[in-house]
Amino acid sequence: MIYLSPPHMSGKELEYVKEAFESNYIAPVGEFIDRFEEKVKNYVKAKSALALCNATSGLHLALRVLGVSNSKVIVPTFTFIGSVNPILYEKNEPVFIDSDEFWHMDLNLLEDALKKEKPKAIIAVHIYGQMADIENIKFLADKYKAILIEDAAEALGAYQWKMENGKWKMNNSAEKSDDFSVRFAGTIGDIGVYSFNGNKLLTTSSGGVMVSDNETLIKKARHLSTQAKEEGFIEYVHKEVGFNYRMSNILAAIGVGQMEVIDERIKRKREIFEIYKSELSEIADFMPELPNTFGTRWLTTLTFKDLDPFEVIKKLKDNKIESRPLWKPMHTQPLFKNAKAYINGKSEEYFSRGLCLPSGTVMNDEDVRRVCEILRNS
Ligand SMILES: Cc1ncc(COP(=O)(O)O)c(C=O)c1O
Repeated sequence: MIYLSPPHMSGKELEYVKEAFESNYIAPVGEFIDRFEEKVKNYVKAKSALALCNATSGLHLALRVLGVSNSKVIVPTFTFIGSVNPILYEKNEPVFIDSDEFWHMDLNLLEDALKKEKPKAIIAVHIYGQMADIENIKFLADKYKAILIEDAAEALGAYQWKMENGKWKMNNSAEKSDDFSVRFAGTIGDIGVYSFNGNKLLTTSSGGVMVSDNETLIKKARHLSTQAKEEGFIEYVHKEVGFNYRMSNILAAIGVGQMEVIDERIKRKREIFEIYKSELSEIADFMPELPNTFGTRWLTTLTFKDLDPFEVIKKLKDNKIESRPLWKPMHTQPLFKNAKAYINGKSEEYFSRGLCLPSGTVMNDEDVRRVCEILRNS
């Protein structure tokens, strides 16, 4: 069976999990949590990080610590429900924005909505491992005084070149160097969140990390994630509602092993994408990459010129290959039938013609070519 994007262990994870067991720190406290937070924080060059049980809880806490409740929140319609549910947890109203030709939030519709709706926050989403136009989204967020949260659940390791003295500083490689002057998905807004669930670039089985350059926000989120238990007391004292959102030391041990191979994994994801692209460009168009950005190609995604994606999914399944439709736009979901949406038809078009191809880094070139052959003969 070829799965969509299954876990791919480095080999070190079990050793670290064993270490965690031997120390008997198998609870949501311990050395591996600190090490995992440190590794993620250093990789994406953020000032502070907080390991959590998943990314959904990270987005919820982000809204909570930034005071976004009972307000309007802008979010792309072309995303996973995990970007939107946290908006509802805090009794906010989502306002959906359709896509542009890069499959990300359309900036004209975004500005229109910012003017008319006066939202308190924007949740920008970097879908399928590719950077959204975050520099321009940030510009608009600042212009209209909206808080900016980045849902980088799918895009750990994606980055854009950093603007310096009005010029883009180029570095077209995932290799790190002293002048690696780039900004990672998740580090441009007020708070960013990554997912480490089972099908992501890296996994801790289930997990999330919140990052921010504002250490006070992370401190506050850390407090809320542990049932808001006040420090400095022997007995348990609580002054506000808290949550049980922390990551366990065991899962963090897996995360430490995974972070050691992040560059290799990104390299392989991009190689897989390149094979698909070279083999299938006659029958499909691939999700574009914004200029001046480097995406991870977490999933290779395309829209067919003629084929029906749902027929292709069936055919791949008959060959024991997993694939998936693109996100069904949120404004077409029964849950959001009455929600406000700024629509241009693009996300519905992508959904009707698009597919996520199996993109696991465990696949070899032959596996990828076999998928291509089935698609070409469809
Ligand atoms: C865009 C997006 N946002 C949020 C989430 C939620 O992440 P998690 O499953 O870690 O809660 C996911 C993935 O599952 C996602 O793809």
